[in-house]
Amino acid sequence: MANTHCPRVIGVASGKGGVGKTTVSVNLAAALAASGQRVALLDADMGLANAQIALGSRSPLNISHVLSGERSLREVWVKTSAGVMLIPGASGRRDLAAIGEGEISTVIQSVDDIVDDIDVLVVDVAAGISPSVMSILSACHYRLIVLRDEPSSIADAYGTIKVMTTELGLDEVYLVPNMVPSQGSGWQLFKRMNDVCTRFLGLSVNYLTSIEADELIMDGLRKHQSVLTFAPGSSGARDFRRLGELVLDLPSLTDVQGQRQFFFERLLEVTQEG
Ligand SMILES: Nc1ncnc2c1ncn2[C@@H]1O[C@H](COP(=O)(O)OP(=O)(O)OP(=O)(O)O)[C@@H](O)[C@H]1O
Ligand SMILES: [Mg+2]
Repeated sequence: MANTHCPRVIGVASGKGGVGKTTVSVNLAAALAASGQRVALLDADMGLANAQIALGSRSPLNISHVLSGERSLREVWVKTSAGVMLIPGASGRRDLAAIGEGEISTVIQSVDDIVDDIDVLVVDVAAGISPSVMSILSACHYRLIVLRDEPSSIADAYGTIKVMTTELGLDEVYLVPNMVPSQGSGWQLFKRMNDVCTRFLGLSVNYLTSIEADELIMDGLRKHQSVLTFAPGSSGARDFRRLGELVLDLPSLTDVQGQRQFFFERLLEVTQEG
């Protein structure tokens, strides 16, 4: 009988840098782990390995050692205090700031090593819309676009959505307004973005929930903790618990699209069984 366990892979992107991808990736991963999921976080932002800093891990090994064939992924990933298995990015390796096309295939294949040990893989994707960013996003099963209510973030989020949908034919795109003053204003930001997508791209995007601005999120990360452990009663903890719940409710993995998705062989088995 086919083994139909297939982890879900969630890519977190934004277009513009500095709007909260790492914050969302780390806290979402922690929220999922806190709810009993077996979670890995892949830092695919090779420029600055900040998921590692955020989770307080000081592993000397990272994804570059997997790419070079020196280590297996299993030797590289580290358990963090949040209960999340972290696959550190290649910090300080300028040559790896943009992963090449060939390397992305290697990353995707190497993750097969942990298929039986995780339920969810969260991927912290680099900023921008480079071919390697788009390749990683195509390989994910769901795509979260983090945006802030400011013109450059909105413009870059729109640019990312446009390339993903019209050029690459990707769906399962979910907006996560971040650093908004209230859930209501986050919903308004989503509606404005969705109106623009409907009007100019002829398609709609989905909404999950918003993350309100909360200094405790930042204070927690400075202490290498998710906001769920640092300040469990905060609005940040509430928002990330909600995001975690919604992510677990995403549609099931029955609609196989690409040829180079994470856990592709397992995905095919799931589809055939389903
Ligand atoms: N909801 C929030 N409330 C308060 N501060 C936040 C929130 N989200 C993010 N921040 C802060 O904003 C800054 C940028 O966030 P983060 O590093 O997660 O962005 P990024 O998109 O990963 O950036 P880069 O493109 O450089 O990787 C950080 O100092 C972070 O603590
Ligand atoms: Mg980041």
